[in-house]
Amino acid sequence: MALLYCMPLVAFMFYKSTQSWKAAVACLIYLGGLAWLGILTTLLTVSLTLVLAFILLEFMHTPIPEGVTEVWGARILDAALRFNGKFILKLHDFGVRGGCCRATRKLVDVVLKTLITGSPFGKGADPKLNIFDSNFDGVGVRVYEPVDATGPKRPALVYYHGGGWSWLSVDVYDPANRELAKRVGMVVIAVDYRQSPEHPHPIPFNDCLKVTEYVLKNGTKLKIDPNRIAISGDSAGGHLTAAVSLRLKKKIKIQIPIYPCLQLFDLKTPSYIENKDFIPGMLCDISMLAYWLNYGNISYDHMDMILANEHTSPTLKKSKYADYVSPKWYMNEYIRSEKLRHMEKPTDFGNEELSKIVEKTILDPYFAPLMADEEEFKDLPQTYVLTAGYDVLRDDGLIYYQRCKAAGVPAHLAHYEDGFHGMIFFFAGPMPFQVGKRAMNDLVKYLKENL
Ligand SMILES: *[C@@H]1O[C@H](CO)[C@@H](O)[C@H](O)[C@H]1NC(C)=O
Ligand SMILES: *[C@@H]1O[C@H](CO)[C@@H](O)[C@H](O)[C@H]1NC(C)=O
Repeated sequence: MALLYCMPLVAFMFYKSTQSWKAAVACLIYLGGLAWLGILTTLLTVSLTLVLAFILLEFMHTPIPEGVTEVWGARILDAALRFNGKFILKLHDFGVRGGCCRATRKLVDVVLKTLITGSPFGKGADPKLNIFDSNFDGVGVRVYEPVDATGPKRPALVYYHGGGWSWLSVDVYDPANRELAKRVGMVVIAVDYRQSPEHPHPIPFNDCLKVTEYVLKNGTKLKIDPNRIAISGDSAGGHLTAAVSLRLKKKIKIQIPIYPCLQLFDLKTPSYIENKDFIPGMLCDISMLAYWLNYGNISYDHMDMILANEHTSPTLKKSKYADYVSPKWYMNEYIRSEKLRHMEKPTDFGNEELSKIVEKTILDPYFAPLMADEEEFKDLPQTYVLTAGYDVLRDDGLIYYQRCKAAGVPAHLAHYEDGFHGMIFFFAGPMPFQVGKRAMNDLVKYLKENL
């Protein structure tokens, strides 16, 4: 504006010093051009900023679970992970299956590590822990020993990390595993199992099984009491926990599946329906299905059909397998929508051809632990199931808890109505969530009292 008022003055001074009208007019035009350019640039910058802010806000506008007070934390978490997810899914279109490769895995690791610890490098040394990487029976592990837990018979936890069998690493779970080792006073063994889609089922399961058997058999060498071994994992790791328990039964003292994924039979459980829009960057129906497809080596072409439950034939929908996950197991008190509490399951549809293709995989109890029959459930070890109210996997976990109880397994349910998928990461750090802290405290207390 000041420039506009000064322009005639500057032109007049120009005329005075040069005594040329032409020079003065040229100067006026030049200054006018500059002014217009300034105005245009300003307008452009302002509108561009507005558009970017609008996009960012739109992206951050995600429904927040009721009861979660850390609204901005949830938004940042969701926006960061959702952006990542979009980028990775694009790579799938360019031929990188599931978007999984060294670079994208590293990227996701760094993003999560930063959200969890505030540093892309994670945490440094800890004087209270002896941490080292090793190899048990050919599988990589990271071992956490509390320096004050001495003696030849220490309790231990074998931990299978989450990440859809395809993502994340022992590195990302480092803070949680340290916390558990120190506060419970037990040895923690984090398993670096091979990942899908390069290594589909049963390779990740076999790696976890191998390490667990090694720990059970080598108690003397490891100074671990083989009668006090717990296994745990979250999400895909919760699945691996349930699958390993199915094999090792009571050789394990306690199993702790944390918001586990346990079946690919019904993707229209109430939790898949009512929770898919809550913090979807962490997990939603589509990403969960992509992980299943990676793990089962099933083509992404069937995605829409499986999401619509078209992958089970009418015969399968009336079989005992449908019973294993039927509404009779639902815990209606934890389903928010009244309508979904009493849902009918239609059995008169499904694609026979696709059903034939996927049947063998999805009915295998080591692929989908909820497909195990009651006899198989009976000898499971003492069980602590952790579930989150705003998680698409909520009902997988709740059905599992119900089926454990029905089979007479001593089972404890830790359900967090305000919980969301991935909350256990955020028990501390720069972005802690109250519900994450509570979940971690309860788990530590239970392990101290029971392991
Ligand atoms: C340690 O575990 C491995 C694998 O499970 C087993 O082959 C080996 O015999 C065990 N060692 C001892 C000393 O029991
Ligand atoms: C996945 O399945 C395809 C056939 O559908 C097969 O050619 C491929 O070898 C399988 N991949 C792995 C890693 O087993």
